[in-house]
Amino acid sequence: MRVAIVNGSHNKNGCTARALAEVAKTLEEEGIGTEGFWIGGKPLGGCMGCNACLSLGRCVIDDRVNDFLKVAERADGFVFGAPVHYSHAGASLLGFMDRLFYLSGGNAEGAGGLFAHKPAAAVVAARRSGTTASFEDVNQFFAISQMPIVTSTYWNNVHGDDDPSETEQDVEGLRVMRILARNMAWMLRCIEAGRAAGVEPPGTERGPWTSFIR
Ligand SMILES: Cc1cc2nc3c(=O)[nH]c(=O)nc-3n(C[C@H](O)[C@H](O)[C@H](O)COP(=O)(O)O)c2cc1C
Repeated sequence: MRVAIVNGSHNKNGCTARALAEVAKTLEEEGIGTEGFWIGGKPLGGCMGCNACLSLGRCVIDDRVNDFLKVAERADGFVFGAPVHYSHAGASLLGFMDRLFYLSGGNAEGAGGLFAHKPAAAVVAARRSGTTASFEDVNQFFAISQMPIVTSTYWNNVHGDDDPSETEQDVEGLRVMRILARNMAWMLRCIEAGRAAGVEPPGTERGPWTSFIR
C-alpha cells in the first residue's frame, strides 16, 4: 500500500514539507509506502472550465497536474499539504487541486474518478493564522469525491514561517502529524482487510443534475 504525499508549497523544504516528512516517516514505520510529490516553485493556475479533460483524460494546461496523474493512479491514500496564504490554502495548490479533481471526475455527481474510496488528509502550515479555514479548503475536495477523511487529535496544523527549523519546535503539531499517519495506516489496513473478506466499495448512482433551478 502506498500514500501519495503532496507538498503544495512553492517551498520545497519549508514548513509544509517538514510536517509532511513527519507523516511520511510514521507511515513508513507502520509499513505503508509513501511517494512524495512537490507541486513545484512556479505559480499554477486554476481551471478554465473548458471541459477538454473530460475527453482527453488530462489537462490542456500541461504542467504538474498532468505529472501527478500517474502518482495518483498508483496511490491507495493521499495527504495534501497546504501553506497558508492570506488565511486560505495557497492559490497554486488550490489551482492544482481544482484541475486535478475536475479532470478525475471528482465534479460529477456520483462519481469520484481517481480518488473515490481512497482515504485522504489535509495538512496545513502557517506562520500564525488561517489554519482552520485552509484545512476546510482542502477537505472540500475529499468530501465531493467519496474519500474517507482521516483525522488526528487536533486539526492537522503546524506553525513556522518558511523555515522548517521553526516547525521542528512545534512539537505538538508534529505529534498531531504522527497520530494522523497512524490513523491513515489503520484505515488503509481496514480497507485492505475488508477487500480480502469480500467487502468492496459500493457502486455509484448517477441521478439528475439539476443545478437547483428545475
Ligand atoms: C503570500 C503569503 C501569504 C501568507 N499569509 C499568511 C497568513 O494569512 N497567515 C499566516 O499565518 N501565514 C501566512 N503566510 C506565511 C506562511 O504561511 C508560512 O511562511 C508557512 O511557513 C508557509 O509554508 P511553507 O514554509 O511550506 O511555504 C503567508 C506567506 C505568503 C508567502
